[in-house]
Amino acid sequence: MSVDVVHMKPDFPIPTGVFAEKVTSVQHYTDRLFKFRITRPASLRFRSGEFMMIGLPNAEKPVYRAYSVASPSWDEELEFYSIKVPGGPLTEHLQKIEVGDTVLMRKKPTGTLVNDALLPGKRLWMFSTGTGIAPFASLIRDPETYEKFDEVIVTHTCREVAELTYGQELVAAAKDDPLVGEIAQGLKLYCTTTREDYPFKGRITDLMASGKVFDDLGVPPISPETDRGMICGSMEMLRDTKAALEGFGLTEGSNSRPDTFVVERAFVD
Ligand code: A2P
Repeated sequence: MSVDVVHMKPDFPIPTGVFAEKVTSVQHYTDRLFKFRITRPASLRFRSGEFMMIGLPNAEKPVYRAYSVASPSWDEELEFYSIKVPGGPLTEHLQKIEVGDTVLMRKKPTGTLVNDALLPGKRLWMFSTGTGIAPFASLIRDPETYEKFDEVIVTHTCREVAELTYGQELVAAAKDDPLVGEIAQGLKLYCTTTREDYPFKGRITDLMASGKVFDDLGVPPISPETDRGMICGSMEMLRDTKAALEGFGLTEGSNSRPDTFVVERAFVD
């Protein structure tokens, strides 16, 4: 049974293996996008770039969906960036949360978009579309990212200009951050749109194929000797960007077998 409330009933039984955390802030960016922050359980350890399963205490069997933690592993709260899917089993309700509400979170973090799954290299590319920027929001505020790579480039492609705001705020905040600000000065954000006018337009896959992204950034085309990649977006975007990186000679890695690129395998609907 599903009910359209997000406020937890006082007698809601917290399932085992699940944290019940309080919402500390909510910010809506567009009618399709919002971010929220929750308290962090003292016992939770995760690596920057990993995801958690998130649900709401609004049904006997809560619906859980994978959400990348958008805050770095050292942060005292947890941040998430979400799409609002009309009629979506979780996001339809999640988009209505307010400060003080309860969010459920399974205890185990997982994910492939972690520094450990990549071999060291000169330049790290983080390719994202839409809310796929969330794990990179975490990684660009982690000092380890800058210890392992000389250059970090985040690409973010969205349908509309307003959807780029979250990433632009994040990169500005990273450069101003007391912990990583100094080492993150060379961090680059390459934003493009596909359905609205903007100085940079087009899907990242097309911009790699034409070479425009490399010209725009003043870097050589991707090569397995120097470049590493992380990919996060829709299923189709993952498939096509993976094919593009393989075309440049990169090979997919994993936690147990680090290599030259990794792909996220978690989705929200
Ligand atoms: P497009 O507008 O051409 O579909 P979505 O909100 O559907 O996940 O899309 C987010 C962004 O990802 C959009 O700019 C979209 O471009 C782009 N995109 C969608 N599919 C792909 C793909 N297969 N490869 C690269 N970019 C994609």
